[in-house]
Amino acid sequence: MTESIPRIALVGANGYGLHHRRNLEPRRRGGEIAFVGMCDTARIHEDASAPIGDIPVFDDYRAMLDATDPDVVIIATPPPTHLPIAGDAMRHGCDVYLEKPPVANLEEYAALYDVMTETGRNVQVGFQALGSHAFNTLRDAVEDGRLGDIQAVSVAGSWRRPDSYYRRSPWAGKREVNGVLVADGALANPFAHASQEAIALAGDWPLDGAIELERLRCREEIEVDDTAVWRATNRNGVRITVAVTLCGDRKIEGDIYVKGTEGEAWFEYPTDRLRLPGEAEPTQYGRTDLLENLLAHRRRGVGLISGLRRAKTFTGFLERVLNDPIPRLVDASHLERVGDDPVTILKGADQAVEDAARQGRLFSELGLPWA
Ligand SMILES: NC(=O)c1ccc[n+]([C@@H]2O[C@H](COP(=O)([O-])OP(=O)(O)OC[C@H]3O[C@@H](n4cnc5c(N)ncnc54)[C@H](O)[C@@H]3O)[C@@H](O)[C@H]2O)c1
Repeated sequence: MTESIPRIALVGANGYGLHHRRNLEPRRRGGEIAFVGMCDTARIHEDASAPIGDIPVFDDYRAMLDATDPDVVIIATPPPTHLPIAGDAMRHGCDVYLEKPPVANLEEYAALYDVMTETGRNVQVGFQALGSHAFNTLRDAVEDGRLGDIQAVSVAGSWRRPDSYYRRSPWAGKREVNGVLVADGALANPFAHASQEAIALAGDWPLDGAIELERLRCREEIEVDDTAVWRATNRNGVRITVAVTLCGDRKIEGDIYVKGTEGEAWFEYPTDRLRLPGEAEPTQYGRTDLLENLLAHRRRGVGLISGLRRAKTFTGFLERVLNDPIPRLVDASHLERVGDDPVTILKGADQAVEDAARQGRLFSELGLPWA
């Protein structure tokens, strides 16, 4: 029997959707997939590496579903639109690649999960770092006892974002839009992967008890955290600490420390570099692309790497972040503005996220002048 080529459609074609178009383009040219339609409520921008060409374009995703009958729909629209679009796509008979965060709270999660089980469709969530082969190697090492009993998993991330970042879309830097919580902050958006990686590396267990959360902002015009730390213990007794900033002087890509009774591993999740206990140098690993994995799942039943179920604990954490009030504004005396499209630097934030992660502490426990 010859396999038919999977028919793929995309909702949300600018913004991060462009990354998906670039991922699809070589596969389309190579005849591995049929790119049957793109939908965006705004005009779709041309891109040299992912030309629109004769791909049918729509401004209404329901019309696109009816006209193109896709096998898989990639959804890269703002988070508040995810539940209705993913639900309609699955009811239409499509599998879904849903960008992170899949939904905003556990009630929406339950609703999406119900549609998924009722329709028998698949949901792959766009936590692409879960496809890292370094992640698997680290989990294998933990399961083989190479680190002893796992006590703590923590992450430090220190990036920069210029003023233009907060002008990129209507929900940028907002706590809510039209009465719906969006919280486009460091934890909920760019560093969502950091929290999901930590939760998954700590064994995919639910969190136990309260989440301790400290969120700060260094720009008056935003309503969300650009610097934050959270800490909780999961039901397997592993303490998770995630400390991140978008106002860092020094870049820390996303350093994960997995601490056990017999040793510690270091894993840079955005780059797939891993150093296990006893190793002098980190090893560079590759990644399985999550769309590729979803297609292999459809074809041959290969396990889904980032199925919706795996995002449940993250969604509970996100709900807590979204419901937190607008963070405290850091005093200007601790800030510096640099560059033509200026970035705000919080003095010592890079060191603070590293210390918080390494010591499992909140900012308020580090004796920092701004916390
Ligand atoms: N996996 C990652 O690393 C990663 C990185 C960045 C963004 N994201 C996620 O991708 C998603 C999109 O983020 P973004 O920053 O590109 O957002 P965005 O606000 O730029 O929106 C993306 C596109 O969706 C379109 N759109 C909005 N509502 C629509 C609708 N109802 N139907 C069709 N099109 C619609 C917009 O016009 C825009 O072109 C979010 O869930 C975000 O968290 C993931």
